[in-house]
Amino acid sequence: MVILELMGFLREITGLRKPNRNEPVTDMSDASKESTAVDVETRAPSPRVDVDDQAISTPEPGAMEYDYTNFYFGAGEDAFALLEPFDDWWKQVKPAGYYLYELPIHTAPGTRVDVEDTKTGEIRKGLVNFASYNYLGLSYRPEVKEAIKEAADTYGGGSSGSPILSGTTALHREFAQEIADFKGKEAAMIFPTGYSANVGTIAGLMRSGDLIVADQYAHASIVDGMILSKAKSKFFRHNRPDDLDKKLDGFNGKKLVIVEGVYSMDGDVPPLAEIIEVCRKHGARLMIDEAHSAFVFGETGKGVAEDQGLDDEVDIHLGTFSKSLGGQGGYIAGSEELINYLRGFSRSRFFSCALSPVVVAGLRKALELAVNEPELGQQLWENVAYMQALLEEAQVPMGDSSSQVIPIMVRDDARIFSMGEEIFREGVFINPVKYPAVGKHKSRFRMSISAAHSKEELKEGAEKIVSVLRRYDICP
Ligand SMILES: Cc1ncc(COP(=O)(O)O)c(C=O)c1O
Repeated sequence: MVILELMGFLREITGLRKPNRNEPVTDMSDASKESTAVDVETRAPSPRVDVDDQAISTPEPGAMEYDYTNFYFGAGEDAFALLEPFDDWWKQVKPAGYYLYELPIHTAPGTRVDVEDTKTGEIRKGLVNFASYNYLGLSYRPEVKEAIKEAADTYGGGSSGSPILSGTTALHREFAQEIADFKGKEAAMIFPTGYSANVGTIAGLMRSGDLIVADQYAHASIVDGMILSKAKSKFFRHNRPDDLDKKLDGFNGKKLVIVEGVYSMDGDVPPLAEIIEVCRKHGARLMIDEAHSAFVFGETGKGVAEDQGLDDEVDIHLGTFSKSLGGQGGYIAGSEELINYLRGFSRSRFFSCALSPVVVAGLRKALELAVNEPELGQQLWENVAYMQALLEEAQVPMGDSSSQVIPIMVRDDARIFSMGEEIFREGVFINPVKYPAVGKHKSRFRMSISAAHSKEELKEGAEKIVSVLRRYDICP
């Protein structure tokens, strides 16, 4: 029931978002409007047929129209009846573009990477990398690698236990305290991934009969936590406190509102002051997922809540170590009571093996570097401004991003993969994103900027991307 409600609502809202400088204004007042109508008229004309690279094939439009629901509703009663239609579809679409996912990388996730082209079998060397989250370039720093090697000598590879049984090493305990201190909170708790931090926190706190309201662009791990909690789940229109107000109105009971610091596919930030005001009005608690903003936003790097001067007004601070710290894992930080309660009820944490101590050692060093080298953050924002200027000059549609996550809005689900292949062959590693990661007709390339990129790399990458976008009339 909850799942159906969520699916129904997501279908209803898919495609609706705050208008911006690159998009036509959509009438938000008609909530029941069929979303697929949005923006269709802005789609670019067909690709030129004179693309001379024979290896690149334009995908069959029919094949690209498939989505998860086709396999679910089209199959019979045997649970495996889904497999054959999916396999037929996959064989058709994989060489036409889906192969661009899960390409093996043969180097560290640096600013240039060697990537295996599984279609041709070649290793494409020295591609400018805009696909990795390594926003501060910390994952491969010699100091981080050294800390990892030392921990491996002491602890070996894994932690061999749940954090509440035998999996907590001295490194885990110290790191949790360091995160609490960094975030300026009473306590913090470490999870194996950012995904499990969301699922465990939301489902640990909320129950059937409660209400959770999240921004419509909330990450899948937030949505999955909502489903698992069995609470009534609603979504408010992206960054629209007025709609949040409506969604909370009239509900008596426990309420949790969830927003992100930087939205992972759009790169924009929430209007926290207004959201907090609405939460206060309705007695709702507020949780912020700072997966993409912790360690880079705010005066001391705490995140967007600090950046907006509202850090103490947010009840639950969540984040990941997989983005700016370039490692793995997730955390929540807040009051001691909150953390103690969730220690007992976050099933995704205590029914799962603790992070490897090797990873924790690398994270501790990465945190130390992020704190002691504020110039990394300055370099990141300089690089972001430089890339935004390059793309703006070329009139590349970018959405509302105000962060290191820059979406290049292609809005052409049928041709994004052929564009992706051409960009890959030009020498740039960047991921195409399409439904279901974003709404239908909202396909884009998601660009991640790092403090480690040189100006030359940014320029070279932008020029190569723009040259392909021009061939598809995405920019003039
Ligand atoms: C907003 C947000 N929250 C949570 C996660 C999950 O984090 P992780 O990949 O560390 O599990 C992501 C991942 O991209 C994310 O974008």
